[in-house]
Amino acid sequence: MKKHRLFVISIILAIAIIFSDYHSTLASSVGKETLTMITSPDYPPYEFYETKGGEGKIIGFDIDIANYIKNELGFKLKILESDFNGLIPALQANRADFVMAGMTPTPERRKNVDFSIIYYEAKDTIVAPKSSNLKKTEDLSGKIVGVQLGTIQEQNAKQIAKNVANIQLKQLNRVPEIIQEIKAGRIDAAIVEDTVALGFVKANPDLGFNIIPSMENASGAAIAFPKNSQLVEPFNDILRKMKNYGELERLSKKWFSATSSTKEALSNKKSPTKVEGLNLDFRRIIPDIPFIIKGIPLTLLFTLSSVFLGLLWGTVLSFFKISGIKPLGWFANAYTSIFRGTPLLLQLSLVYFATPQLTGYNISALQAGILTFTLNSGAYMSETIRGGIQAVDKGQFEAAMSMGVTYRMMMWDIILPQALKNILPALVNETIGLLKDSSLVATIGVVEILRSAQIVGANKYIYFEPLLFAGLIYYVLVMGLSFAAAALERRLRRSDK
Ligand code: ARG
Repeated sequence: MKKHRLFVISIILAIAIIFSDYHSTLASSVGKETLTMITSPDYPPYEFYETKGGEGKIIGFDIDIANYIKNELGFKLKILESDFNGLIPALQANRADFVMAGMTPTPERRKNVDFSIIYYEAKDTIVAPKSSNLKKTEDLSGKIVGVQLGTIQEQNAKQIAKNVANIQLKQLNRVPEIIQEIKAGRIDAAIVEDTVALGFVKANPDLGFNIIPSMENASGAAIAFPKNSQLVEPFNDILRKMKNYGELERLSKKWFSATSSTKEALSNKKSPTKVEGLNLDFRRIIPDIPFIIKGIPLTLLFTLSSVFLGLLWGTVLSFFKISGIKPLGWFANAYTSIFRGTPLLLQLSLVYFATPQLTGYNISALQAGILTFTLNSGAYMSETIRGGIQAVDKGQFEAAMSMGVTYRMMMWDIILPQALKNILPALVNETIGLLKDSSLVATIGVVEILRSAQIVGANKYIYFEPLLFAGLIYYVLVMGLSFAAAALERRLRRSDK
């Protein structure tokens, strides 16, 4: 009897210990305190940027759920971002522990990642100008249809195209771009998830949407993890709990409380006959201007470090080229031909996504950007510098040599300063190029000027105003740079005399 009681008590104790320790055990078995989530914040109300007052936080339905889960499991949470089609590669590169991006589990995706249970069901819709009367899938025959690259909507559209003649698909990176293409009349319609479509249609009353009745791969959102992640079960437990306790219901009401306004948006009958004009109204982005401006230091930091490092690396390469040592020359030439011969954007994605897999080092987007731009501009600069050195009068080499100046000192004190002065305009060109190309790092999620502008646009469901404003900033920066360079050149020339 006593033994029995002891047994029961110890079982209860053990269970209690296991449960009370659940959190810390998970954290320690996962081996970290902070979980990294990656998302594609172009998708209100699932995830989007709150940009008022310049703060720039990602918010939305998914973020609320993620926060709930991390609290329950006792983790801290860090949120990264990328375009939607970069999310699964990010998991595979171990850049993040999970993806929440309104992502639908599909058989193809399951081959590469594990999914939680579905936490939200959604349907696909056809978004089109109201006046166009594109409502059913059959209406899309002969039309150009936009979809977000890498999404289930892209697949569903392909599915539709099998049954409906002559549909031409156009894949774009972000949903706001798709909406803009419709407004520009460049595509006829788009396939977009219902709750997301609703937001855009509300902001653009000349557009309407119609749900596509039950399609094979209806949309729906689940959390994605790297294959065999230990997090799947704990996350599922919490999701089930959230379902049972009505927490999911509450959150979806908070973010999607749309059913009534859906009808309102749909029944909004006044359909204009032509697509609305440009209609610029910069007042709409005033509250978000601090947010866009915040991208400036990052862009400058990025550009200047890349220019500086690129100049150093380019100098080294140019020495290789003129050294007369064959292997070094070959290396430098091959290097230059590769980095000049392939697109910068491609190099950027490779460095960003392949580095963690190749080296185990989890390179940040900013580091990847600076590294790529340094490697790339090094190739260009090496040619410029080589030209600059070779343009210095031969007699100077000979004079220096005959006076017994060492090669190093000759290069450093006599040749390079002259070369640099000659190539200054070319270097300024390169810097301006880099400054503008720095906008490419937006694609791997660095929130610099262009990305901030896109974020504001996505948020406000507008397009041109933030972009024009960003353009203005770039222009002012480039002008500043040109003036500074002109002043420097004048100085140098004066010191010549
Ligand atoms: N549910 C769709 C899919 O999984 C679209 C999700 C797009 N999400 C985003 N954050 N843009 O393919």
